[in-house]
Amino acid sequence: MKLILLGPPGAGKGTQASMLVNKYNVPQISTGDILRVAVKEKTSMGIKAKEFMDRGALVPDEVVVGIIEERISKEDCNPGFILDGFPRNIAQADALSNMLEKRNEAIDKVISISVDDEELVVRLTGRRTCKDCGKGYHVTFKLPKVSDACDVCGNELMQRDDDRESTVKDRLVVYKEQTQPLIDYYSKKNMLKSIKGEGGIQHIFDQICKIIEEV
Ligand code: AP5
Ligand code: MG
Ligand code: ZN
Repeated sequence: MKLILLGPPGAGKGTQASMLVNKYNVPQISTGDILRVAVKEKTSMGIKAKEFMDRGALVPDEVVVGIIEERISKEDCNPGFILDGFPRNIAQADALSNMLEKRNEAIDKVISISVDDEELVVRLTGRRTCKDCGKGYHVTFKLPKVSDACDVCGNELMQRDDDRESTVKDRLVVYKEQTQPLIDYYSKKNMLKSIKGEGGIQHIFDQICKIIEEV
């Protein structure tokens, strides 16, 4: 199972991908998560990436394409993977299809999750993330069991630097200009399935599982 979750910031890609990992036992590959670890560890890639991420801009293609190339060649990706946040423009999508072709592999499905802008702003500005393991919560829609503590590791929750309202608005513009054209791109290749990402998290998950399981 090789899947792409496509959608604007706040669509629920990360939320759904982590549920899919449990059900289908394939890894979630989030370029955003990988970049945030690099930023936290202050690697040279992280230091360069931070400047783009803080503005809500895309990190240069060669960086993220390199991340994906390295990640999908690891053994745990043999049974498949879920791409969350990659590709994000046509050049990245072309690079992905070339790298998979070389490996005699291909993406099975692209699931596009759409959510209205107003709702996206509410979701992102209210999102909280575990400082340590990165698990996502929301101040209204997905509370931790103990206030301000991660259900998994008990560490403190924080707000992502790019989840302030002004940066959120910039990220939405970048999405529309650079990522949204991928809906057409994958639709022309007959790979696209679209769902509405509004409503309960479980209800959306059920729709995604149905798409995965249909032949
Ligand atoms: P990235 O980390 O990928 O962020 P994003 O695409 O902006 O998406 P988010 O993680 O913000 O949203 P999500 O769809 O995962 O939503 P979530 O499940 O958390 O990228 C960050 C940055 O890294 C980019 O800006 C860029 O600089 C760089 N980058 C990353 N990949 C790159 C690439 N390929 N190329 C270049 N640069 C790249 O949900 C959001 C909130 O809503 C949560 O609080 C959640 O609890 C809540 N929620 C989820 N579902 C529901 C629901 N159904 N109802 C109510 N609330 C819900
Ligand atoms: Mg995410
Ligand atoms: Zn945690």
